[in-house]
Amino acid sequence: MFKNLRPLSPYLWKYRRDLFFGAISVLLTNGIWILFPQVIRRAINDLNSGVTREKLITYSLLVLAVAAGKGIFQFLCRWILIGVSRDIEFDLRNDLFRHLEHLSYDYYQRTRTGDIMARATNDLNAVRMMLGPAIMYSANTLVFTTGALIFMVGISPRLTAWAFLPLPAVSILIQYFGRKIHDRFERIQAMFSDISARAQENFTGARVIRAYVQEDAEIEYFQTSNREYIARSLKLVRLMGMLWPTLETLLGLAIVLVLWLGGRDVLLGKLRVGDFVAFHTYMVLLTWPIIALGWVINIYQRGTASMGRINEILKQKPTITDAAMATDLVGKSVGLRGEIEFRDVEFTFSADDATTAGTQVERARVLRHINLKIPAGSSLAIVGPTGSGKTTLVNLIPRIYDTPKRGMVLIDGRPITDFPLAELRRNIGFVPQETFLFSDTIRANIAFGVELSRPPMRKSMPPPTLPASPRTLKSSLPSTTPLSASVVSPSVVDRNSAPPSRAPSSAIRTSSSWTMPLPAWTPTPKSGSSRTFAK
Ligand SMILES: Nc1ncnc2c1ncn2[C@@H]1O[C@H](COP(=O)(O)OP(=O)(O)OP(=O)(O)O)[C@@H](O)[C@H]1O
Ligand SMILES: [Mg+2]
Repeated sequence: MFKNLRPLSPYLWKYRRDLFFGAISVLLTNGIWILFPQVIRRAINDLNSGVTREKLITYSLLVLAVAAGKGIFQFLCRWILIGVSRDIEFDLRNDLFRHLEHLSYDYYQRTRTGDIMARATNDLNAVRMMLGPAIMYSANTLVFTTGALIFMVGISPRLTAWAFLPLPAVSILIQYFGRKIHDRFERIQAMFSDISARAQENFTGARVIRAYVQEDAEIEYFQTSNREYIARSLKLVRLMGMLWPTLETLLGLAIVLVLWLGGRDVLLGKLRVGDFVAFHTYMVLLTWPIIALGWVINIYQRGTASMGRINEILKQKPTITDAAMATDLVGKSVGLRGEIEFRDVEFTFSADDATTAGTQVERARVLRHINLKIPAGSSLAIVGPTGSGKTTLVNLIPRIYDTPKRGMVLIDGRPITDFPLAELRRNIGFVPQETFLFSDTIRANIAFGVELSRPPMRKSMPPPTLPASPRTLKSSLPSTTPLSASVVSPSVVDRNSAPPSRAPSSAIRTSSSWTMPLPAWTPTPKSGSSRTFAK
């Protein structure tokens, strides 16, 4: 279980200074609070021998001072430690996002978006709870219990032994509940992932659902899943609902024991009243930290379960990397002329990638003996029936699919694996077959991937049906585009999302979209750039 948490250590280390001050605040908060029963003890023992005005004022002020001191440090402790957990959450979310951006295309084919979203939200939050409140409360419990124990033994070792009698039962209980909470929470999160994925697919596929009149069926399915989610959550709540009262009962029993045995000692004159009251106050003050322990176990179990789920993403390695890069190009920025060559290329989607289950390898072989030489500065259109491999062919150029098993793809006479991946892609303007718009202004969508300098922007504009220049576009169409292109009219989508990333400056432009009137509004190709069109 601890192994799940190992990836968090660099983050904790990064905030070691804050954690140090947080730890000092924990020590001070509890160090001061532990004195509270001592003040009461002295007050009662002292006042027993005679009540004076001075004594009353002194002890009242002492109680106030202890409470104020504790309050200040408790505030600092929460501020620092909960703050650290927010900072770590921020870092972890950014790292997770960066990692997701580096993963290759195939990962997103295998993984549902909703599942990733659930992990980046719900699970990350569970991890934050573990790093913030869980660490803070367990540190408080540890320090306060240790301090209280020392004072309690000082007052009466025999009573202390009785008071801590239920502790083994408490620890067995916590272990038992902890394991169950962990399992149930894992199942709940898996369910949450399913629901998120389903919701996300429903929104993106809204048109398909409407076209097939599947609204009611989908709503029904969503309701069933939600009911299942509620049922599972209630099972967890029931378990947690049992944990706290059970702990309280055990602690209550200990208090009864102490009242009975301690009270007898007081009557027999073996214990002073002040000592007994202090002892009893320690027991009462210990109730919350020990109950908090139960809560912490719960958060901790959720946190480790969630961190395990986040690790599953962090463990993924991009399948397409710079591995085979030529040493002379490492760390250099590359400017491509744009001559593309396919040399006897054969491409097979791996058997388990094949869209139809059980597809034979022969059928999954999409490209065979492709020999092509596209000189720099020329345009090429590839025509063929649906599923003949046009998109696949084009996807090989920016290495969206990795290099073929046989043959090779070359640019400017060098195998594409020679180039650093980022450099290769920076040189290629690519319009995917499936259009996608970010939820941003049309202007920002057009400028995606291009530095926002105006001249190239204007060059890549305007499609015939949209206002004439980016400037008028800004005022007349400032609208934010909806979540996905599916809700915008296809012609607008094609034209808006068509500007290939970095089109104005890239040497190679590839387009997988047949309907796109690219030549109408992209700049005339500079000499030394080639274009490939394929549907
Ligand atoms: N990720 C993938 N995994 C497995 N097989 C795939 C994958 N992508 C495409 N294929 C298969 O490869 C073949 C070629 O697909 P591709 O998309 O390249 O065809 P296309 O010529 O672009 O078709 P269209 O005209 O419909 O755009 C098809 O049989 C398709 O089912
Ligand atoms: Mg295609």
